[in-house]
Amino acid sequence: MEKLVVFYSRADENYFGGQYRFVEVGNTEKVAHMIGEATGAELFKIEQKEPYSPNYKRCIDQAMADKRANARPELVEMPESLDGYDEIYLGYPNYWGDLPMAVYTFLDAFDWTGKNIHPFCTHEGSGLSGTEQKIARTCKGARVADGLAICGSDVDSSENLVLRWLGQ
Ligand SMILES: Cc1cc2nc3c(=O)[nH]c(=O)nc-3n(C[C@H](O)[C@H](O)[C@H](O)COP(=O)(O)O)c2cc1C
Repeated sequence: MEKLVVFYSRADENYFGGQYRFVEVGNTEKVAHMIGEATGAELFKIEQKEPYSPNYKRCIDQAMADKRANARPELVEMPESLDGYDEIYLGYPNYWGDLPMAVYTFLDAFDWTGKNIHPFCTHEGSGLSGTEQKIARTCKGARVADGLAICGSDVDSSENLVLRWLGQ
């Protein structure tokens, strides 16, 4: 059986410990690549058909509207199946104390029975915010391991933390 890193991440304008900056690669995507390199896992990026705005303030309003509506934004593509994978590293930014709703679109599409899910989250202060439990409730039959939370502003210096977590 193979390992898969599934992640959601947004580039463009973001907020880093008090200031706004444009970035080419999102924080969660950087962590996803670290995990891919360390484990040899394949990577799959969850992308919305209609991405949120590159403008940070507009993006947070859009994401809040989707959360309030319990929306399931349509995705650009989906793996045909997860049958070949038993260890899934699931990465996402903390959006309003929750998963981005597009991650739920992904989770709702598969049978999780017997899968091991390893959640990893980037954030600006809120940590995992109980998302491990939300994943367990959504992915019936999966075993959800202890998650990893990394402050987005610290991602570039977090490789050791990631490797320690992978070794758990
Ligand atoms: C829509 C939105 C909502 C967010 N909500 C929270 C939050 O509730 N708590 C928190 O700590 N950080 C929050 N953040 C900050 C992100 O979790 C953080 O910047 C993360 O590292 C972004 O990951 P990415 O670059 O992979 O997209 C939010 C960011 C956005 C864009």
